[in-house]
Amino acid sequence: MNKKGNSYTIELKKIEKEAFLSLKKVETKEELENFRIAYLGRKGVLNGILRKIKDFPLEEKKISGRQANNLKRQLEENLKKRVLQFEKKTEAKKIDITLPGIKPKLGHLHPITLIREEMKGIFQELGFEIITGPEIETEYYNFEALNFPKYHPARDSFDSFYLASGILLRSHTSPVQIRVMEKRKPPLRIITTGRCFRRDAIDNSHFPIFHQMEGLMVGEGIKFSHLKGILIYFLQKIFSSEIKVRFLPAYFPFTEPSAEVSISCIFCKGFGCSSCGHSGWIEILGAGMVNPKVLRKVKYDPEKFTGFAFGMGIERITMLKYKISDIRLFWENDVRFLEQF
Ligand code: DAH
Repeated sequence: MNKKGNSYTIELKKIEKEAFLSLKKVETKEELENFRIAYLGRKGVLNGILRKIKDFPLEEKKISGRQANNLKRQLEENLKKRVLQFEKKTEAKKIDITLPGIKPKLGHLHPITLIREEMKGIFQELGFEIITGPEIETEYYNFEALNFPKYHPARDSFDSFYLASGILLRSHTSPVQIRVMEKRKPPLRIITTGRCFRRDAIDNSHFPIFHQMEGLMVGEGIKFSHLKGILIYFLQKIFSSEIKVRFLPAYFPFTEPSAEVSISCIFCKGFGCSSCGHSGWIEILGAGMVNPKVLRKVKYDPEKFTGFAFGMGIERITMLKYKISDIRLFWENDVRFLEQF
């Protein structure tokens, strides 16, 4: 009998080991239920053993019965613990659909883009066509074709970042004038905007990368008065109908005559303040009648066709409109700055 009893004790130990191991491996609620049925169910392993033990002699029945019941209790307790663990897990996974949602943060256009689009819109209303040009240029388009001869001092402030001999990052948008005129015959009325590059030292109004808008109109009988009309209309639209516009003589190699165009100070209405250097005027752009030498370069007959051109910095206009005092802010990507627009 002892022998038989011992074999049951050993069998119980084996079952105990197996049972705890498979309980540990349980990963889903279903597996847990299967475990319960297999070990603790009515026809499960433990009940099978207990049924057998019933037929043992008294002494053996006592010992083995106690051991089997112990194991049953232990398994039941551990099963309960696992059930609780599973319940907690599903509790944590539950989503409270009555809670208000988390709003995703939406981005928006950069202030430079906003003003650029507004500027383009005004010219589009006037029938100007939007054109794009390359940011990498040859010296021919950036200088020569625009009547900046080699070694001309006017090149100095423009001399940009060279990528290879004769190839550079454009220092202004004016080369696009040449590219358009080479491909088309007058009449034409175009606007182009884009990035430009100069080796300027960085301060609150200079940055080596900046944006310009360029305009060009060529046809028969185009006069300086057309240029004035277009620019006054544009400047009063973008700033305010109250502003005055001033044209002063200036020099650009690709226009003749050339003008420097200012608006009456939008902060002091022309009385003089620190923003306008107490002059009452703020310089906005360069303009002029397309130099006949430039027209000849693109094989237009200057006796037949005339035109005007203008160019302006988009940063400057954005800074004036939004009262931004430092150009570097445009490049820092600080959300506290950007979300104000
Ligand atoms: N390209 C000039 C600059 O970057 C600006 C300019 C002046 C453009 C006169 C023009 C113009 O088209 O007519 O400073």
